[in-house]
Amino acid sequence: MDYNALSRTLDALCHGETDAVALMATVACELHHAHPLSDWTGFYRVVAPELLKIGPYQGGHGCLVIPFSRGVCGAAARTGQAQIVPDVELFPGHIACASSTRSELVLPVWNGAGRLLGVLDLDSNTEAAFTEADAEALAAIMSRIFKDAE
Ligand code: SME
Repeated sequence: MDYNALSRTLDALCHGETDAVALMATVACELHHAHPLSDWTGFYRVVAPELLKIGPYQGGHGCLVIPFSRGVCGAAARTGQAQIVPDVELFPGHIACASSTRSELVLPVWNGAGRLLGVLDLDSNTEAAFTEADAEALAAIMSRIFKDAE
């Protein structure tokens, strides 16, 4: 996965944009097509205290609503920590939007003012598809792309 190329593409496509949903749609599209092992790529947005709702995504349908108390996405939103899940069967409370999902990476996404906008969720049909390097590279890109998001 060439994160430098992805970063350049997103910097060009998102330049000057502050609408969070437009930014999410662009990231979901480009990341989904760039990452060889992501079979579902998208965002869940913070729409109320302790509540996520689906945002722009690529792949099969995703569940619409996730409280911070549930799932891998809820854990990322609740803790503010990246969740790297090599085997979803071993994650207590994993929410299976597709029975084919084997591993997952979920990152919290903040704007530059420190407001939690939502989480970025990557699901793979391959076990252990995501690494610390994926999490670190994507966190750096999200921090820059969503810096001025409203
Ligand atoms: N697996 C996620 C739910 C989102 S669907 O996978 C797109 C979770 O456990 O939070």
